[in-house]
Amino acid sequence: MSRATATDLVYLVAIAIGAVIGVPAARLVKMTAMPQMVAIFNGVGGGAAALVSLTEFISLGGKSLAIYRICEILFGVLVGSVSLAGSTIAFAKLQELMTGRPITYPAQQPINAAIGLAIVALLVVTVVTASTTVLVIVLILSLALGAIFVLPIGGADTPVLISLLNAFTGLAVAASGFTLDSTLLIVAGTLVGASGTLLTRMMSQAMGRSLANILFSAFGSVVTATGEGPDASGRSVRAGTADDIGVLLAYARKVAIVPGYGLAVAQAQHTARELADALSARGVEVYYAIHPVAGRMPGHMNVLLAEANVPYDQLEEMDDANQDMATTDVALVVGANDTVNPAAKNTPGSPIYGMPIINADQATNIVFLKRSMRPGFAGIDNELLYDPKTTMLFGDAKDSLSKLVSAVKAA
Ligand code: TAP
Repeated sequence: MSRATATDLVYLVAIAIGAVIGVPAARLVKMTAMPQMVAIFNGVGGGAAALVSLTEFISLGGKSLAIYRICEILFGVLVGSVSLAGSTIAFAKLQELMTGRPITYPAQQPINAAIGLAIVALLVVTVVTASTTVLVIVLILSLALGAIFVLPIGGADTPVLISLLNAFTGLAVAASGFTLDSTLLIVAGTLVGASGTLLTRMMSQAMGRSLANILFSAFGSVVTATGEGPDASGRSVRAGTADDIGVLLAYARKVAIVPGYGLAVAQAQHTARELADALSARGVEVYYAIHPVAGRMPGHMNVLLAEANVPYDQLEEMDDANQDMATTDVALVVGANDTVNPAAKNTPGSPIYGMPIINADQATNIVFLKRSMRPGFAGIDNELLYDPKTTMLFGDAKDSLSKLVSAVKAA
């Protein structure tokens, strides 16, 4: 067997192993587990790019390389390793293999900065000496930097982080493409890098926060609401029954279903559609008000509702939904919380102040389907839960929606 054939065989076996692991994993993953799947696949891509750069450096013989070649290789090793370690920690957080809360310790930022500076210094040493040993130290420090950079980022902010790491992986792959003289890798890597950067920017904007705030503020480490019992100001909450709320919905003219993370957790998209169908059959106008960051990843609600075959013309993006809200009789908030929290408009200093929200507070009646008074991802109180217009239906979103379907049909 010639050497080229043996190498080709190794490639084919590697591709087959990757496909055997990747295809079933991607097909079987639940929608709510999608962010961690993207994280781990992304990390593997970054690690592969770093390894390609390192092996090219060794096999081409570092000393004989032009400086620009060494720089391409260093970029691939640095960015690919950061992406691998960062994505692995992000995966562990989202998969609840470790705490999802931000992990902070004294002098965290100065320590990160010191490691970053050490890496820069060693990169310069590698360019000057072309030493493989120094490059391996760069790789190890880059792995450490990737891990500690991600530790202070809260579990629910990690989708934004993953998008950023995805952009990093793209750039590392493009760098390997230059090293290998592969136009395909350069184009594919640049596409991933550019789209990941844009997606990161759009997600941060939709959350009303800067990327720096997401990466460095340890958001989510302070929980300001526990949802345990009545609060100090003695506000009371009105809880309703499925039958009462069924009647309210059945005799409404216009109903907005506002889906959130809880709908995804409960896998309640099909039951939500059943309710919408039952209401439409009675002549009630139903629309879904979609917040761009409802859930835990971009387009989360659109994907879930599409899976349940919700007609596309019933989906309203936030700006359109907000125009309709004042003429809506019932806003039915299904497992959403932060994305309808008026503190984003009314409470300067709130962590979500400035984040655009679905104006469910403008509807004539508001119904929340959630299990308790616990807060959402931002960990803050939601005054809308205590609004006199609000009725709570406590329970799992799917169970509550099933009860409402029966109640609407019986009304
Ligand atoms: P959240 O504010 O996180 O609220 C979800 C609510 O669902 C919780 O209050 C929870 O209350 C309820 N819930 C959980 N499981 C449930 C179940 N089985 N049945 C019924 N209710 C259930 O959700 P949201 O309004 O969708 O907001 C999304 C948040 O995630 C925003 O703060 C956003 O910034 C953040 N985020 C989003 C993204 C993207 S791109 N989508 C990325 C990163 C962060 P109970 O525990 O009382 O049931």
